[in-house]
Amino acid sequence: MKTIISIVDNLSADKFSYAQAVDLLTNGEVVAFPTETVYGLGAIATSEVAVAKIFEAKGRPQDNPLIVHIGSKEEIKEFTHDIPKLAEVCMETFWPGPLTLILPLKAGSLAENVSAGLPTVGVRMPEHPVALELLKQLKQPVAAPSANKSGKPSPTKAAHVYHDLNGKIPLILDGGTTGIGLESTVIDFVGEIPTILRPGGITKEMLEKVIGPVGEAKPTDHEEAPRAPGMKYAHYAPDSPVFLIEASIQKVQEAVEKIHNEQKKVAIIASDSFNQVQVDYFFSLGNENQLDDAAHLLYQALRDCDETDVEIILVPVLSKKGVGRAIMNRLEKAANGNWFRN
Ligand code: TXA
Ligand code: MG
Repeated sequence: MKTIISIVDNLSADKFSYAQAVDLLTNGEVVAFPTETVYGLGAIATSEVAVAKIFEAKGRPQDNPLIVHIGSKEEIKEFTHDIPKLAEVCMETFWPGPLTLILPLKAGSLAENVSAGLPTVGVRMPEHPVALELLKQLKQPVAAPSANKSGKPSPTKAAHVYHDLNGKIPLILDGGTTGIGLESTVIDFVGEIPTILRPGGITKEMLEKVIGPVGEAKPTDHEEAPRAPGMKYAHYAPDSPVFLIEASIQKVQEAVEKIHNEQKKVAIIASDSFNQVQVDYFFSLGNENQLDDAAHLLYQALRDCDETDVEIILVPVLSKKGVGRAIMNRLEKAANGNWFRN
């Protein structure tokens, strides 16, 4: 299959720019498109056959459910029920935007493989003009995970999607680099209290301001019940191993020297304050006081490592304040929990 990249003007709602994507989706094909978080790979959420093509193209495990994207709030009534009041408040406040709500699924309303057999469904209304316009023209819910090969960092550019899925999907809508750079916050409204299953751009603090106390699923929680099933798999991982390390220039310099003594090449992914360290490759996460920049640059940096001959990747830990919690969540997964010990 030939993969076409079609550049879409973010400001234009011109039907022609979307016609090919609408056509492909309506006919049961998959299409990659930009959202304000990362690029998604979409298929019509009511078609089992179309949704199966997402799993196939990504190499995604079948037990990992997909997020359903909508272009208007009315659509959720067709596939959810018993929406709690606090969930309504979140939709009012944060949609369109990077917040996914887990709600009770109306049995039989969507293709089975969307929810991987769970009685719940994740839903969000994206804020990106291209995603929103596509969904509005389509007028149907679209199941869409991140448009990366399973296990790799989510794509923040059309070129990342092309790199991972070239030949496996017919079309990529190119709306430029995504804004936030990390996936949406996932919050569960089915349990006792609203619980964050995956931290993201909408932080715990932002949520608590509007709905009161919010729980946080610990990384080990998934062993008990299928909370966010996706979180149990290896994720965001470059080809070479990633190690977290204390955010000290001296500690990082010592670690690099130790690795060099073993004749290995090393990369650092860190804020600019670490660029004085003598290292083989340095990938910047921007100014250390601008966590939004780090979120925006992280996946590109992890992907850049794969274009080098680096053998070990060191990442000094960042603050867990605000969006830092989401950044560190992804880094802990990329590192598989491993720390560099001198
Ligand atoms: O920002 C985003 O959310 C992007 C863009 C494309 O919208 N999408 C995305 O999808 O990150 P994906 O499939 O890569 O991640 C979805 C996460 C997974 O961890 C999955 O297990 C969880 O959401 N999830 C989906 N449905 C769920 C459900 N019913 N219950 C619990 N977790 C669910
Ligand atoms: Mg993903």
